[in-house]
Amino acid sequence: MKTSLTAFIISLLAWPASSFAFDTERGEELHDSHCTNCHAAIYGNKGNEIYTRENRKIGSLTELQAQLKRCKNSLGTNWPEDQMLDVQHYLNSNFYHFKE
Ligand code: HEC
Repeated sequence: MKTSLTAFIISLLAWPASSFAFDTERGEELHDSHCTNCHAAIYGNKGNEIYTRENRKIGSLTELQAQLKRCKNSLGTNWPEDQMLDVQHYLNSNFYHFKE
């Protein structure tokens, strides 16, 4: 009982840090090892050109989030929300630069 209460309090203390801090590096790692292959197969080169191509589809943060969900589904992963946010933040700070 005592241990679980302690664990509960620790998890409460740890919660804000883990849910509000983006880990862009983890986002990049996740992205590069899971997302790039498919984009590269379609668009050639390193795959990241899909984000900077002239007629790119994404015009807002909301659209970026929606596309990430679609792509995550086609990848068939079940990444938790915080990992998705890391990937989103990585893409936004490197390619899209929407206001967050
Ligand atoms: C099964 C293949 C596939 C996988 C895996 C995939 N994507 Fe995509 N992605 C696409 C295709 C195809 C498009 C272009 C869609 C279009 O043009 O309408 C796209 C487009 C995008 C775009 C929009 C590019 C633009 O036009 O600005 C983003 C952002 C994106 N993907 C992110 C991701 C992320 C993040 C992952 C990994 C979680 C991922 N994708 C995995 C196929 C994939």
